[in-house]
Amino acid sequence: MGSDPETQRAPVLGRASERSGSLSEVRAETPNGHRELPLVRREASIVSPLRYPGGKRRLAGFVAEAIRLNSLQPCLFVEPFAGGASVALQLVKDRLVERIALGEKDPLVASFWKVVFQDSEWLVERVQNVKVDLATWDQFKQGSFTSTRDQALACLFLNRTSFSGILAATAGPIGGRQASSKYSIDCRFPVDTLVRRIREAAALADRVEFVANCDWRETLRRIAKRGMKRDEVFYYFDPPFYQKAHRLYSHFFSDRQHRALRDKVLSMPSPWLLSYDPCAPIIHLYSQNGCSPRRLELLYSTAPRATQAKAEELIVSNLAALPSATRLWRSAKEWQVGCQPVARGGRA
Ligand SMILES: C[S@@+](CC[C@H](N)C(=O)[O-])C[C@H]1O[C@@H](n2cnc3c(N)ncnc32)[C@H](O)[C@@H]1O
Repeated sequence: MGSDPETQRAPVLGRASERSGSLSEVRAETPNGHRELPLVRREASIVSPLRYPGGKRRLAGFVAEAIRLNSLQPCLFVEPFAGGASVALQLVKDRLVERIALGEKDPLVASFWKVVFQDSEWLVERVQNVKVDLATWDQFKQGSFTSTRDQALACLFLNRTSFSGILAATAGPIGGRQASSKYSIDCRFPVDTLVRRIREAAALADRVEFVANCDWRETLRRIAKRGMKRDEVFYYFDPPFYQKAHRLYSHFFSDRQHRALRDKVLSMPSPWLLSYDPCAPIIHLYSQNGCSPRRLELLYSTAPRATQAKAEELIVSNLAALPSATRLWRSAKEWQVGCQPVARGGRA
């Protein structure tokens, strides 16, 4: 931080010139004859205990590849909008970054990460013993917790038992209040899996610089005070969605706040990458000052064809090069025979 503004990176989006690392590539023929190049991890080596609306687990490979392409070796990877923190966890686990710093405005979410990294066995014990039913859900939903521990447990419980993992006040319990759905309230609360994921994240605790319950600007101020050199820090911004954010998060942005974030990131000399839901106002916001956003297609690989969920991610960055792959996940069909791996460095 504190670098000469003359040397700030121009917010351009380049094509990849090389590829390397633990990601594998496949060529795939699409129905319209286009050759696409999905960029995939063979397996996710760490999964966040939180199921997060707008969670970016599938983007971790892209961010990792972007760091490699630009020959960066950040000492510190900063996520000022941590949520489920899936990208930070993956990169620090893969040792692509030395340390991570997480900021998050929602006190429940911030407390969750604090307890995971500082007090994980308390949380494990509670996860193993909490009664997962509607009465407990009501207690957590109505509770105004002040202790970090209670906030952490409330976060995990409500995240795993509320519709789509949504913590916003309006979200109801999985299965509904009448429990008439085929889904039970505990269907996303697999105790052993959660315990494993908490412990896997907790094992990274000595590489966590800080977890802060604060606005994103405060996270940036904290980092600035450390006086690190420009390329020693990498920022990954994953702000609240532009569309429908009030239904997804307890804390979300007004148009003015989206603009304030844009103004700040475009002035930052350190490498950064930002992801958004692709929508016209955000494309417009970032299409000024010579900066052009880029769409990424995310395809979920496991769902049957008829119900296959498809999502797109908008990427903006000041990096000189971004991976040329625009698809981050293989479709179920591509996992089948006939999908030939290509040699490293091969082009679509
Ligand atoms: C899109 S989610 C992040 C998802 C995360 N990248 C993941 O992989 O799970 C955005 C997060 O920003 C948080 N947030 C909202 N307003 C904020 C603010 N002013 N400062 C910091 N965090 C904020 C929300 O609570 C939410 O957790």
